Amino acid sequence: MKTVAIISRKGGAGKTTLTVHLAVAACIDGKETAIIDLDPQASAAGWGDSRKQEIPAVVSAQAARLPKVLEAAVNNGADLAIIDTAPHSETAALAAIRAADLILIPCRPAILDLRAIGDTIDLVNLASKTATVVLNAVPPRGSLADEAVEAIRLKASALRAIAPLGVSIAPIRIGQRAAFVHSLTAGQTAQEYEPLGKAAEEIQQVYKWMCDALG
Ligand SMILES: Nc1ncnc2c1ncn2[C@@H]1O[C@H](COP(=O)(O)OP(=O)(O)OP(=O)(O)O)[C@@H](O)[C@H]1O
Ligand SMILES: [Mg+2]
Repeated sequence: MKTVAIISRKGGAGKTTLTVHLAVAACIDGKETAIIDLDPQASAAGWGDSRKQEIPAVVSAQAARLPKVLEAAVNNGADLAIIDTAPHSETAALAAIRAADLILIPCRPAILDLRAIGDTIDLVNLASKTATVVLNAVPPRGSLADEAVEAIRLKASALRAIAPLGVSIAPIRIGQRAAFVHSLTAGQTAQEYEPLGKAAEEIQQVYKWMCDALG
């Protein structure tokens, strides 16, 4: 089983959105997939409850139980576990980081998110791991995303002296799209809500990239 952790110390960056969309993409791809929700607010678990489909399995858990929950997922035949985390729990984020084969950091191309990303990278460094930033909610027009990439690169290279592994930036950006919001309200994801839409297409590309990154 491969394990992906979705982390960001900034609230509202898109952790839960990315978690459930990648999990559904994996289900569509025929993978046995489990979402592990470490956020006490249980947004991903609530979304799971509101779904008509049984898959993906969504388990709400505490950080201290993560190794056991992952073990249970393996025993239940899961191919992939995606861990959603809370913005303000360092313990949970670290547990997810330590357990993960791949760490994704959703980040909006906005000044407050970019200022906060150093805190998230610090956590990744603490565990001597590397992570990939996924730009999320990129506006359809303007140069915000390119400026964000530049800002993240600068921050990453400034941190490189103390963190040689560093962070990379995913080649695919996720746009600011209504389908990401409306689909979750309906207990779905963009792939189910608007299968031919741009949001579904972007998630499919991020999913493919993620599979390659996982090897
Ligand atoms: N690409 C996007 N386009 C449009 N809206 C988005 C996008 N990504 C996320 N959102 C919206 O932004 C809000 C925050 O997203 P989400 O809940 O996924 O963030 P989060 O990082 O999990 O937040 P928290 O830190 O509170 O757990 C939600 O209302 C969600 O629908
Ligand atoms: Mg969330």
